[in-house]
Amino acid sequence: MELVLLFQPFLLVFTIFLSLCFLFYVLRTKPTSQKLQLPPGGSGWPFIGETLEFLSLAKKNCIEKFISDRQNKYSSYNLFKTSYIGENFVFLCSTEANKFFFSNDTKLFKTWFPKNFDKIFLHIHKLDVTNEIAKIRKQTSTLFGQHDALQNNVTYIDAVAKEHLKVHWNREEVKVHPLAKKFTLAISLRSILNIQDSETVKELENLFNCLMTGMFSLPINIPGTKFNRAVKASREIRKKFEGIIRQRKIEVSEKSEKSFDSSKDLLSMLLMDGDKNEEGAVESDVASNLCGYIVAAYDNTSTAIVTIVKYLAELPEVYEQVYQEQIVIANSKGPGELLNLEDINKMKYSWNVASEVLRLQPPFSGLFREVLTDFNYDGFLIPKGWKVHLTVHATHKSSKYFQDPEKFDPSRFQENKLVPFSYIPFGRGPHMCPGKEHAKLQILVLMHNLVKTFRWEKLIPDEPLIRDPILAPAKGLPVRLYRHKP
Ligand code: HEM
Repeated sequence: MELVLLFQPFLLVFTIFLSLCFLFYVLRTKPTSQKLQLPPGGSGWPFIGETLEFLSLAKKNCIEKFISDRQNKYSSYNLFKTSYIGENFVFLCSTEANKFFFSNDTKLFKTWFPKNFDKIFLHIHKLDVTNEIAKIRKQTSTLFGQHDALQNNVTYIDAVAKEHLKVHWNREEVKVHPLAKKFTLAISLRSILNIQDSETVKELENLFNCLMTGMFSLPINIPGTKFNRAVKASREIRKKFEGIIRQRKIEVSEKSEKSFDSSKDLLSMLLMDGDKNEEGAVESDVASNLCGYIVAAYDNTSTAIVTIVKYLAELPEVYEQVYQEQIVIANSKGPGELLNLEDINKMKYSWNVASEVLRLQPPFSGLFREVLTDFNYDGFLIPKGWKVHLTVHATHKSSKYFQDPEKFDPSRFQENKLVPFSYIPFGRGPHMCPGKEHAKLQILVLMHNLVKTFRWEKLIPDEPLIRDPILAPAKGLPVRLYRHKP
């Protein structure tokens, strides 16, 4: 008995020591993240995952079915996991998830592009993409966002639109999608690199069309494939841009800062930037960035325009209200007088229509990021290296956030009654589209010029919108034009 009492303190210390060892072992071998489960969802077939189902629904512009099937299955969750194009993905699908995503963008996530982009835009993964985008964002906000700049932009966009209509819409039947692309590419080339010569624009138009077709194709780089044509087209575009950049650098260095008109396009502004960021930059890197930038700028805007034209053909009562708004503005102008910012501010109903189109048919079906570090969302582990797909449709088409979500109803945008983080066609947070105001100008100015001149009828009444992978009418939206009587 006495012996036991004598050893009691040692037994206590020994027991504590053993407990601490056990705790240390558990903590070391079971990090917190391993206690969490992965989000609900399937991984599909070995290697290909759920790629086939995802791509076939995406092509039919039915990504919402892919999402809603899984949302119904895992109904109590804001997220699900899947695997496609060789990557593990977490889909986020609620306003809460959107808020979390945008609030933690750059902290938990980094910009991610599919592997195809690396070859087409040349080593995009090796460039400091975050830094490059930050520089471009800053200049874009100045060039396209400030009041004076917006005023200048309206005038030149209106001049380009009027010329565009005169040359390309002066016939009975047209295909709208290629024309919308022609219009937005001409504006992008002018505002980004000051390219206006029609021969160069035409040449670049063909090259950009090739690039876009191969951007999301199978990455088989042998002669004759779409991917190979895209790689070659990108090389040609960058070669042309490099020549322009070299020449512009000479102009900038020859002229004093005062006499050089740095506000004429994005490239000049980048070269004249206060901290001289781009002066020492390698021309090929600047060319790669500008090539990607033009794709971001012109393709989404042309998609928005062609989709608006489609809805205006299908909904005569909506067309009529847009017409009434635009004709008042048109009648207030003198002969040859171009639109100004005040006119744009009067186009409230037209912008509500455009916003409703962007809700129902957002050009971007989702935003993509790579996870930088393991984290816990809603009690689930989101592992480092996984990709996040924030789906715009999940909230845009949800009856939780939009009453009667399939109904075309521009009045939703009349008062600011939207549920925060439910409507995100231009993204949000640190990467929110810096070209939003510029896109708005292009859309409204072209709508004004089209509606005041014609009404139109679809030549293929049931032509579907597909995502291949960019949203587009399957046959380019051929329409018959009916010019208004003077
Ligand atoms: C209707 C037309 C447009 C739509 C729907 C649109 C949509 C978007 C969206 C959703 C993003 C965010 C991407 C992300 O977070 O990963 C974005 C980014 C961007 N957009 Fe737009 N965009 C449009 C037009 C434009 C135009 C006209 C320009 C240039 C003048 C432009 C330049 C950019 C750039 C540079 C970024 C990258 C910003 C960053 O990563 O920080 N966009 N756009």
